[in-house]
Amino acid sequence: MKIGTPLSPSATKVMLLGSGELGKEVVISLQRLGIEVIAVDRYENAPAHQVAHRSHVIDMTNKEQLEEIIMQEKPHYIVPEIEAINTAYLKEVEETQSIVIVPSVKAVQLTMNREGIRRLAAEDLKIPTSPYGFASNIEELKAIAKKVGFPCFIKPTMSSSGKGQSKINSAEEIDAAWTHAATAGRVNKGNVIVEGMIDFDYEITLLTVRAKNKNNTIETLFCEPIGHRQENGDYVESWQPQPMNKKALEKSQQIAKKITEALSGLGLFGVELFIKGDQVWFSEVSPRPHDTGMVTMATQRQSEFELHAKAILGLSVDTEMLTPGASAVIYGQHDSDGIVFAGINDALAEKGVDIRLFGKPTSFKKRRMGVVIASALNIEVAREKATNAAKRVKPIKN
Ligand SMILES: Nc1ncnc2c1ncn2[C@@H]1O[C@H](COP(=O)(O)OP(=O)(O)O)[C@@H](O)[C@H]1O
Ligand SMILES: [Mg+2]
Repeated sequence: MKIGTPLSPSATKVMLLGSGELGKEVVISLQRLGIEVIAVDRYENAPAHQVAHRSHVIDMTNKEQLEEIIMQEKPHYIVPEIEAINTAYLKEVEETQSIVIVPSVKAVQLTMNREGIRRLAAEDLKIPTSPYGFASNIEELKAIAKKVGFPCFIKPTMSSSGKGQSKINSAEEIDAAWTHAATAGRVNKGNVIVEGMIDFDYEITLLTVRAKNKNNTIETLFCEPIGHRQENGDYVESWQPQPMNKKALEKSQQIAKKITEALSGLGLFGVELFIKGDQVWFSEVSPRPHDTGMVTMATQRQSEFELHAKAILGLSVDTEMLTPGASAVIYGQHDSDGIVFAGINDALAEKGVDIRLFGKPTSFKKRRMGVVIASALNIEVAREKATNAAKRVKPIKN
């Protein structure tokens, strides 16, 4: 693997499709390796735009707009950071140009939709999952919910961060759940998955890296498991390492290896799993860094972003954890542009605490605007430090 000089004819160029807070950290990691980075998103001044060499604003579901930007920039790698992309065109790009789609077109296509990845895991690979079914109208939804049983989760097949998701306890709540899913989901409106509830003890993200080793063969490596707490389908707090019994950890790693091998390609994946005693269920997987994995900026020798950057370029990686740690989310708390953050110094006063503010131009009450990360001797102390520090940060309207 060779890396050229950015902004020169020899440059190694990476284009990010999607430029949120996770993309921003991937860009910073790529910049450190001397990669020329182009960040694309659907709105101006997105977090990763602010740290890339160049940025573009386009509708990434639109083939013509994507084509124009890709032909203009001629990147060596395209790194999708979100699901809402014209993946059919990316497939065409991979087949006709010498551009690598990260981690693979197959991974991007199967994970852009909950149906693709669920059927691959449960039906092709026979990995345990919650009971499920799909519906594209309210009558189908009623029938499937009855079959799956209550309580159950109803989610748009194309959505993330809990958007459009409901947990319902009885048939009376189906109408409201349908409306919620149809109005909040992305792109493919009116398609939902119904999932029976798994009564888990805890849930984890197992960051799994497919990277080349020194002998140029692909290896599967695991980070220490990350525990997390979700509110309304959105992550509010995470920690590493999540204590696990040996058997559950082994099963988790086997599942993660199987699913990432099937998705193929090089890079870091966030495999979400539910655990109860020795039992493990697969939930979903991101073919890219995971929001709950931001904790690795406080805990690992190489954060999930550095691992992703290195792995996709074909470089070898080190997944070692150096210290326990935790992360806690800072929400916008206001619907407003150009908000201001007070109390940062109070948050940083505590030893082991650090902060990332994403620089998003527009705040919403429940939009993730920053994160506090903390390291400590154990996860209990780290969680307390991160949560307390996050509370001290006060977003205010300008
Ligand atoms: N079938 C399920 N059983 C139990 N909890 C679930 C189930 N589906 C979702 N959840 C809870 O909701 C969270 C978000 O669901 P997920 O499918 O990961 O959506 P997203 O893609 O928006 O992250 C999960 O992390 C878990 O806490
Ligand atoms: Mg999830």
